[in-house]
Amino acid sequence: MKRRQKERYKPVHTPVLLDSVLSLLKQESIDSQAEFLFVDATLGEGGHAEALLLHYPGMMLYGVDADGEVLLRAQERLKLYKGRIRLFNEWFTDFFKNFRQRFKIRPSGILFDLGISMFHYEKSGRGFSFRKDEPLDMRIGKNIEQTAEDIINTYSQNELFELIKGYGEERMAKRITYAIIKERRAEPITKAHDLAGIIWKAVPPSYRYGSIHPATKTFQALRIAVNNELSRLKEGLREAFQVLEIGGRLGVISFHSLEDRIVKHFFKERNKSCTCPPDWPICQCERQRELKILTKKPLTASTDEIKRNPKARSAKLRVVEKLIA
Ligand SMILES: C[S@@+](CC[C@H](N)C(=O)[O-])C[C@H]1O[C@@H](n2cnc3c(N)ncnc32)[C@H](O)[C@@H]1O
Repeated sequence: MKRRQKERYKPVHTPVLLDSVLSLLKQESIDSQAEFLFVDATLGEGGHAEALLLHYPGMMLYGVDADGEVLLRAQERLKLYKGRIRLFNEWFTDFFKNFRQRFKIRPSGILFDLGISMFHYEKSGRGFSFRKDEPLDMRIGKNIEQTAEDIINTYSQNELFELIKGYGEERMAKRITYAIIKERRAEPITKAHDLAGIIWKAVPPSYRYGSIHPATKTFQALRIAVNNELSRLKEGLREAFQVLEIGGRLGVISFHSLEDRIVKHFFKERNKSCTCPPDWPICQCERQRELKILTKKPLTASTDEIKRNPKARSAKLRVVEKLIA
C-alpha cells in the first residue's frame, strides 16, 4: 500500500529553465534568507516551487493551479514545506483579481509556466495525449462546459478550420478539418487516439514523419480553445502585474508563439514612456514606464537541457521588473 502511494505521487513533470527561474525571479536586494512572498501561478506538480523553496529559506510561496488533481500531487511533494506554502485551486485570473481583497502583502515574484504538465499527458485520463485511448475531454479546471469532444463534434466546418489554423497554426488545417467532418458524419469522434488516427490519415505521408506527430498542433488548438487559454493569459498578466510589489519580478515561460506574442506585447506596451508624437515640444501624455525588461531576448533551454527534457525545446522565458505602482 505504502509503495503504491509513493508511486502515485512520483512527479512525472520536469520543470524547465529552472536555473534561470531561480536566478532571475528575485531582486538583487533580496538575499536567500530574507522573508518575501512568491506566487507560482501555475504550480503544476510543484517542480519550480520546490526548487524555489529550497533555494530561498525565507520565502513564503502561494501556489495556484486550476487543476485540483495536480494540486494534490504538488501538496504531497511540498509537504516538507507545509508551514511556508498555501495552495489555491483556482484559475490564476480569479486568484489575482481577488488578491488585494484577500491578502495584505504583495508578492515580490510571480511565475507563470504556461500550458499543461506531463501529468496531464500521462496520468490525467482526459485525452490530452494523442497516443492514449482516452475520452476527448481536455478540461484543466472548473466551470468549463465545453469539452474537446463537444467542439470536435458540433463546430461547423468553418469554425473547426479557424480553430485548427488559428490556435494550432497548422498548415494542414484544411485537410484535417475535412477529414474530421467526414468521419463524424458516420459516428461521433469521442477518443483521443481515434482523432489522432483521423489526422494521421488526412495528411500526406511526407507530413507524418516530421519532428512532431501530425496531430500535435490540432490537439494544442483544442486544448487552448477548451480552456480559453489565451484570454486567460491576457487577463492574468494584467491582474498579476497589478498586485506585484514595486521592484518585484514577473516571469513567464511560454511554449508556443501565440502565447509568447501576448507576453511580449504586454511587456513592450508597459515598457514605453512618453508616447506623444516626436514633433511635440513638450510631453502631453505624462506616461511613465511601468517596467524594466530583464530579458531583451527570451531565454531558451540549452542543448543539454533539451537532450534531458525534449519538452523544453520550445520554452521561452521572459522576465520584467515592476517600476511604478
Ligand atoms: C507547465 S505546468 C506547470 C509545471 C510546474 N511549473 C512544475 O514545475 O511542476 C502548467 C500548470 O498550470 C496549470 N494552469 C494552466 N492554465 C492555468 C490557469 N489559467 N489558471 C491556473 N492554472 C493553470 C495547469 O493545470 C498546469 O498544472
